[in-house]
Amino acid sequence: MSPLHDSFDGAYRGKRVLVTGHTGFKGAWLTLWLLELGADICGYSRDIPTTPSLFEAAGLAGRIRHEIGDIRDTSHFQSVIASFKPDFVFHLAAQAIVSQSYQDPVETVSTNVVGTASVMQALRGVRHPCAVMIVTSDKCYDNVEQPWGYREIDPMGGKDVYSASKGATEIIAHSFHKSFFSAPDSLVRVATGRAGNVLGGGDWAADRIVADCIRAWMSGTIVQLRRPDATRPWQHVLEPLSGYLAVTAKLTTAAKLNGESYNFGPRAEQNRTVVELLSDLARIWGFDAGHQAYEALPTPPFPEAGLLKLSCDKALMDLAWEANFSYAECVELTGEWYRDVLKGGAAAYDVTLRQIHTYDQRARTRGRAWAGVARP
Ligand SMILES: NC(=O)c1ccc[n+]([C@@H]2O[C@H](COP(=O)([O-])OP(=O)(O)OC[C@H]3O[C@@H](n4cnc5c(N)ncnc54)[C@H](O)[C@@H]3O)[C@@H](O)[C@H]2O)c1
Repeated sequence: MSPLHDSFDGAYRGKRVLVTGHTGFKGAWLTLWLLELGADICGYSRDIPTTPSLFEAAGLAGRIRHEIGDIRDTSHFQSVIASFKPDFVFHLAAQAIVSQSYQDPVETVSTNVVGTASVMQALRGVRHPCAVMIVTSDKCYDNVEQPWGYREIDPMGGKDVYSASKGATEIIAHSFHKSFFSAPDSLVRVATGRAGNVLGGGDWAADRIVADCIRAWMSGTIVQLRRPDATRPWQHVLEPLSGYLAVTAKLTTAAKLNGESYNFGPRAEQNRTVVELLSDLARIWGFDAGHQAYEALPTPPFPEAGLLKLSCDKALMDLAWEANFSYAECVELTGEWYRDVLKGGAAAYDVTLRQIHTYDQRARTRGRAWAGVARP
């Protein structure tokens, strides 16, 4: 038995968990973590979105029930739910790339908004207790460029199509909750999770900063930076995942969480410029100086919203959740993953698993509420 089984109060041990978007970046990390927590997993995704991918590199298809399908195909998705009978559903499937939303805005809206409506509609057929996490984004908020953090009660919005699709996903999820799942005895309980951009090993998506760097460095070229001085609240992929896992576990015992939304963001000290991040990653990768690794582009290729900060007080109050890693730990684990797997030849599965254990172990030592009892 994995030493992680007692985290999240053992809520996932021996339970059936359906993950949509399990072949994507966050989905693959979540699948591996849930396996370590002792869950039986069914993944549902349209495709394997990148080559290479963490999902394939870690050989996850052989460790779970792996379903290929489109979340907008409600009857197919419903048939998978009916046969698998999940205790938990994590909905991560989405068109998640901002640049892609400029190329095909209708497909982005269709996948993210109609797709989520289809998932919620399929859940109406569930006849057993089922706790559901709908993953959206910090971009769901109407970004008014305020200097303080957005709270869960702030208005939804979106000045670009990707952001609007995430705001609309939130509204759709809440409307289904109010219409169909809000009764005190509802078998289905739903919460939504809002987090910003994440870093971590095994991300190969287009136009993501770390993936772009690693691709360039692997091919011996210098990476071109869109916005070198932009400040971002960097956080490791395991941070929002610990938040999603904490809320969804608690949904099973605390009915008052049904219909709630939670922000999961890093502490303010984790804000760094793109250049700082790149120079730290370049050092871990093995460059002697930053200019060997990157150069700044003069004009950004498409507009992007300014800094968006999340207030995570609600997660702290209701779940005692707080960020577990510092900026330094986030960059260290991300850089080490790519270095060890791509330059060192280590197995992606082993490195990912080792990092999940590191994250859990440090959470125990630091007394994070979701982590099990600290071991000596
Ligand atoms: N990665 C980030 O930095 C980040 C930041 C904020 C929010 N998010 C959100 O987290 C979730 C997961 O993001 P990610 O980075 O892992 O995305 P990803 O692009 O790596 O993976 C997307 C997944 O969705 C699946 N998918 C896409 N369209 C589908 C469809 N029509 N039917 C079924 N499956 C479909 C893909 O097959 C893949 O498994 C998304 O909702 C995303 O918007 C991600």
